[in-house]
Amino acid sequence: MSLQRYEICVLPGDGIGPEIMQVALDVLRAVGRKHDVEFACTEALVGGCAIDACGCALPEATLDLARSADAVLLGAVGGPRWDTVDPDKPRPEDGLLGIRKELGLYANLRPVRVYDALVDASPLKPDAVRGCDILIVRELTGGLYFGDHETVEVDGVACAHDVMEYDELEVERIARRAFEAAAIRQGKVTSVDKANVLDTGRLWRKVVHRAAAEYPDIEIVDMLVDNCAMQLIMNPGQFDVILTENTFGDILSDEASVLAGSLGLLASASLGDGTSLFEPCHGSAPDIAGKNIANPLAQVLSAAMMLAHGLGLDEAASDVTCAVDAVLADGWRTADIAQDTTDAAHVLGTREMGERIVACIEEER
Ligand code: IPM
Ligand code: MG
Repeated sequence: MSLQRYEICVLPGDGIGPEIMQVALDVLRAVGRKHDVEFACTEALVGGCAIDACGCALPEATLDLARSADAVLLGAVGGPRWDTVDPDKPRPEDGLLGIRKELGLYANLRPVRVYDALVDASPLKPDAVRGCDILIVRELTGGLYFGDHETVEVDGVACAHDVMEYDELEVERIARRAFEAAAIRQGKVTSVDKANVLDTGRLWRKVVHRAAAEYPDIEIVDMLVDNCAMQLIMNPGQFDVILTENTFGDILSDEASVLAGSLGLLASASLGDGTSLFEPCHGSAPDIAGKNIANPLAQVLSAAMMLAHGLGLDEAASDVTCAVDAVLADGWRTADIAQDTTDAAHVLGTREMGERIVACIEEER
């Protein structure tokens, strides 16, 4: 077999980003050796580290590299060092939002899967979470995140606004992604909005139903976002694909991670019409950075999503997800998913968890 080669733009970012990225790159190299694939990884700066080095969170060189790569793998951005309430100062998050917008990554897929081995890691009842398998399809380049933001003073009183705006084309294209995803899953889309209050919510609902007419085999359920927040905890088994706008998707995905046991397990794929980006759903966790205790699995599983969705290497992707399954089934845990009483002897550091996964991939050769 001839060697395939892919250019990967690697953006470790801040906080735990670099250490979990190191694990993901080791895993990629291992799976690459097995499948005769070479990943040519080039690192660049994004977020707080880019602000320190270049004064802005998304340097032009990073964007150029991302555009020319076959896929982008990102760690996490942000940290207290760069936190500011001054709207004129650069923020690490600008780097993330900027790259999503510049690459046109409007579709963010966030799978929430409850591993059998981890049903007890969730604070919810095991019977409620067992077998849950949800895909959150979050619109990623519209809504409040990208509307007009402004802080002004009116008669000596500070006043801020953030505009939430969607046009029907933006809603339609993300709805199609959700229907297509549901077609190869359980065939159900729960579309989440706030149509009882917001115009954007009413437009969302109308356009989603218009698009749904083209997918007669898909069941479509409308749900208000406040109710969805409750249903996710009360009866998560009812969900297959959750389709929602940017801000609601941000909030609901953190909430849904509680089903899986930890935000440290949630991977994501951000897709548009060009180069795709893959990143964990969690942040940079500055409080635990550099301590070798962060859970690298969200980053590793994001790399697996990159193999499948970004590069079409389905077998390699499934080798990675199977290795993660096997390591968890064998009882290995990072601190965030360990139960004090039963797992104490099986708690691994970030690097050691990575070594287990690599060993598991290599054993299967
Ligand atoms: C996420 C994160 C980001 C978001 C932050 C870091 C800007 O919370 O990817 O969910 O709000 O989209
Ligand atoms: Mg978030």
